[in-house]
Amino acid sequence: MLAEWLEKLNASQKEHLLAVLQERYADELRDAELAERAARELRYEQLREVLRRMATRERRHAELLKQKIVSLGGTPPPAPQLPEEPTWQEVLEAFESEKADLVSYIENAYGVSDPEVRELFRRIHDEEEQNYRDLLEVITKLDPYQAGA
Ligand SMILES: [Fe+2]
Ligand SMILES: [Fe+2]
Repeated sequence: MLAEWLEKLNASQKEHLLAVLQERYADELRDAELAERAARELRYEQLREVLRRMATRERRHAELLKQKIVSLGGTPPPAPQLPEEPTWQEVLEAFESEKADLVSYIENAYGVSDPEVRELFRRIHDEEEQNYRDLLEVITKLDPYQAGA
């Protein structure tokens, strides 16, 4: 059981686990916000839909991470504040972030000893792959000079 397992965690392990979860949580919120902002300005409804679906995925990830943080007695950090940027730049930043997430979730899955968190990271990682593919589609179809980007 998790409760039993938690008792065996020493303070510094727990601190590390919380720090990783908090960092991932803030990143999920940032990714969701980026995708939502990009979707607002985009001219093509089909691409807006792709970005909105991605944002929904990221908000769900944030929620799962938040539940984990709270269950470990931690506090979820506030949502990061993003500067206003042109849509094409938001799309590219989101793409960079999703590429990085693919690596981070795998690394973090190996780096934490909590079996439930490990499983959660693996599950989220698989969905980050979908984000990566979706953003690749958006980038491929987006013309920054004509698409209202
Ligand atoms: Fe995510
Ligand atoms: Fe992500």
